[in-house]
Amino acid sequence: MPLGRLMQGKPHADTPGVTIATPRAYELFGALCFAGRRGRVFARLAELSGAVPGDRVLDVGCGTGYLTRHMAARIGPKGAVTGVDPSPPVLDYARGRNRRPGSAPCDYREGVAEALDLPDASFDTVVTSLMLHHLPEELRPMALREMYRVLRPGGRLLVAEFRPPKSRIGRHLVHSGAGDAMAHHRVDLLDALVTDAGFELTGRGDLRPWLSYVQAQRTR
Ligand SMILES: C[S@@+](CC[C@H](N)C(=O)[O-])C[C@H]1O[C@@H](n2cnc3c(N)ncnc32)[C@H](O)[C@@H]1O
Repeated sequence: MPLGRLMQGKPHADTPGVTIATPRAYELFGALCFAGRRGRVFARLAELSGAVPGDRVLDVGCGTGYLTRHMAARIGPKGAVTGVDPSPPVLDYARGRNRRPGSAPCDYREGVAEALDLPDASFDTVVTSLMLHHLPEELRPMALREMYRVLRPGGRLLVAEFRPPKSRIGRHLVHSGAGDAMAHHRVDLLDALVTDAGFELTGRGDLRPWLSYVQAQRTR
């Protein structure tokens, strides 16, 4: 059985998405997978989001709040970050982390990407990292449309996802460690997913070791 499956929660009443139930194991897994670069990579994601001091930021599928806290540091004490995830154990873990001096407050809420319980146009920046591959493919467009809805016109979106290795052996290793959804994740479909939801694509790239990202804007 892939190691990743040991971290999964039981089926959730509100979503067919695969939830994480063991925050400490997830943090350890994350630290190992990024081989000492996790902090740098996520600080860079926060930078790439384009968020500025004072922004209202939403992190969809925030998990243990790793990116959420980097976003909070970036936007400073006058901003505010909301993290949404369906899994109570990861949210409890995130709530238990200390607020870094000079950071924005983080508010963690139970919820699902495909039906966000948040008002229209209420955020300046929306970010999501490593969440989409936890959703069945048919729900991903709905999740992107929800991100569009809650973003104000002119607001920015950053989507970061796992980029599977190109080699068969590499994908085999990912499959054994984390499962099929990661080993065969189609990051090449991100652009279309984002533009089909109404966003204008503003950038894309890769971050070593494993991430691809797209940057986009809600123009209207
Ligand atoms: C691999 S973790 C990523 C967590 C965090 N964003 C990070 O980068 O470390 C995927 C997260 O997506 C969450 N998830 C699963 N189904 C979801 C849904 N329908 N809506 C929002 N999040 C979901 C899981 O509970 C889990 O915390």
